[in-house]
Amino acid sequence: MHTPFIVALDFPSKQEVERFLRPFAGTPLFVKVGMELYYQEGPAIVAFLKEQGHAVFLDLKLHDIPNTVKQAMKGLARVGADLVNVHAAGGRRMMEAAIEGLDAGTPSGTMRPRCIAVTQLTSTDERMLHEELWIDRPLVETVGHYAALANESGLDGVVCSANEAPLIKERCGASFLAVTPGIRFADEAAHDQVRVVTPKRARELGADYIVVGRSLTRAADPLKAYERLQHEWNGGEKE
Ligand code: C5P
Repeated sequence: MHTPFIVALDFPSKQEVERFLRPFAGTPLFVKVGMELYYQEGPAIVAFLKEQGHAVFLDLKLHDIPNTVKQAMKGLARVGADLVNVHAAGGRRMMEAAIEGLDAGTPSGTMRPRCIAVTQLTSTDERMLHEELWIDRPLVETVGHYAALANESGLDGVVCSANEAPLIKERCGASFLAVTPGIRFADEAAHDQVRVVTPKRARELGADYIVVGRSLTRAADPLKAYERLQHEWNGGEKE
């Protein structure tokens, strides 16, 4: 439906979003609004982005009791998000409730926002999983299991590392979405991301959408960086 490039608008205010988007005027983007921006600007920021013609991934990672998630999702469907997410750790019933809420809140004649699950945060490592969360299984096994649970609960996909995309497609089928952050151009710094892949490699691994933040938001020329992203995703080499 949308472009495969999800631009992470990790900014603290609408003003900074507007400044960043100025060179893209007339180009419909798929943008991601996370907690930082949403908790400052509220639902109005989604309405604003939609008015500009952009699709919106509202990355709020809901995790609560099923009824609360259902009611919250009802509201987010009305706000006009195209893609939303939850923590798979909330369990099957919570994920089913998320879909029920989205169905209930979607205005008639429009498509229900798609909903994906966070399996394990990339900030969770093997030590934390075992020592803090008391989960004995290897991290990768929990990722596969949470993805399968999300699939059985009716979700549309997961957020995952591109490296996990093959495993997830194998377990959940080709149409189950793999939305992958941790993307960097080959000649760029990784920042705080531990394992990064290039746009081209992400596509080869089966990513449906790549989430790209600082490679665009901190680029000297964001429009040029976006064009490079498109070029490399489509198999082109660096010019
Ligand atoms: O700047 P960068 O490209 O690293 O930004 C990646 C975006 O994807 C950020 O908004 C980050 O919060 C998000 N994200 C991530 N890893 C996850 C889930 C989301 O980097 N597992």
